Amino acid sequence: MFQSQRMAQRSWGQDELHIQCIECGAKYPPDEVIYNCKKCGNILEVQYDLKEVSEKLKASDWKERPLSVWRYGELLPILDESKIVTLNEGGTSLYKCERLGAELGMKNLYVKNEGENPTGSFKDRGMTVGVTKALELKAKTVICASTGNTASSLAAYAAKAGLKCIVLIPAGKIALGKLAQSMMYGAKVIAVKGSFDDALSTVMEASAQLKVYLLNSINPFRLEGQKTAAFEICDQLGLNVPDKMILPVGNAGNISAYWKGFKEFRSLGIVSNLPNMIGIQAAGSPPIARAVKKKLKRIEPVKNPETVATAIRIGNPISWKKALNAIYESRGTAEIVSDEEIINAQKLLARKEGIFVEPASASSIAGLKKLAEAGQLDKNDVVVCVATGHGLKDPDIVVEVCEKPIEIEANLDSLNKVLGI
Ligand code: F0G
Repeated sequence: MFQSQRMAQRSWGQDELHIQCIECGAKYPPDEVIYNCKKCGNILEVQYDLKEVSEKLKASDWKERPLSVWRYGELLPILDESKIVTLNEGGTSLYKCERLGAELGMKNLYVKNEGENPTGSFKDRGMTVGVTKALELKAKTVICASTGNTASSLAAYAAKAGLKCIVLIPAGKIALGKLAQSMMYGAKVIAVKGSFDDALSTVMEASAQLKVYLLNSINPFRLEGQKTAAFEICDQLGLNVPDKMILPVGNAGNISAYWKGFKEFRSLGIVSNLPNMIGIQAAGSPPIARAVKKKLKRIEPVKNPETVATAIRIGNPISWKKALNAIYESRGTAEIVSDEEIINAQKLLARKEGIFVEPASASSIAGLKKLAEAGQLDKNDVVVCVATGHGLKDPDIVVEVCEKPIEIEANLDSLNKVLGI
């Protein structure tokens, strides 16, 4: 449990913390429930007075706190620390992957294993902050659209906070483990006849008309929690940044959150460099990667997205502008991988490193393999791939693609026969 006495006392003034439009710069107070700029309609982000943050960090003991989302409390937009809703998120392993690295010709390959979070995905970093915000704003009901993981995470944190939770999922299109989680945590699960993109536009309308607090990644507070993974990676690399960060991209919030995190750490002088941000998308739903490959400043939404990586089966990502900024500003890139490459990468990661991830997460490894083979990476580059969600989330795909168990009679002869001994 996070102990608030470990964090420096904070009270944010109007100018020290605000919500800001990423396009026109219009500012809004942190207690306004707002998801799009009232002036130009663009998406928003949280901004701090970093000088103030720097002083607060200097006066604090943040470096002594355990690795976790709340280690970085001074860089999070929470006004009332007594309301923090936590299940001990963050503090996930950064594995050095020697065997996988040797296979792919990379000497400094790491995997950030976000499947270790309480509900098995990186979404928990965002929800500890987002649901705490919901309490601060006195919301009674929270809502999201989801390909599965956001729903599982929101359902768990809403349960912990005593809030009602509604999740909209694309009917028949989410992995079984994720559906089971949302159902067990007691959310109202609504299956929409349509895609994730349809479900998202429905919850956006609902949050404008009903008294429900929206916790998709268009909510700028949620992404503040997610940026802490970038801080942790810097900490785990001895206050260095990787050369390349490789992440799967769906609704495009996470890559944007990482980039914001790295930039804040650099602005504060905690690290001195920035990584190249590399986004990976599945061949059946690649609006951002396609735009990057064509060097475009806008995306063209993909109709009827389809991929085995159901978590990132998204044709019209809400945070596309932030993601393109992250990729272009960091001089990064994007890559498109096929379902076959994703499944091969999922097996490779499990069988070389003992890390079992869901298909969307494996897309970062598939992307790494493709870029390495194309000679776009230096073998000495420090590369971090983000494994965004645990493999047990999607057991159906495993049963489909792995060798089936061999059934035998319970005696040594039968065993010897199948082992060929
Ligand atoms: N990996 C996993 C396992 C995910 O669940 C998601 C997104 C992503 C990657 C992509 O992250 O959307 O920030 O670009 N899942 C969302 C959900 C859409 O509803 O669970 P993103």
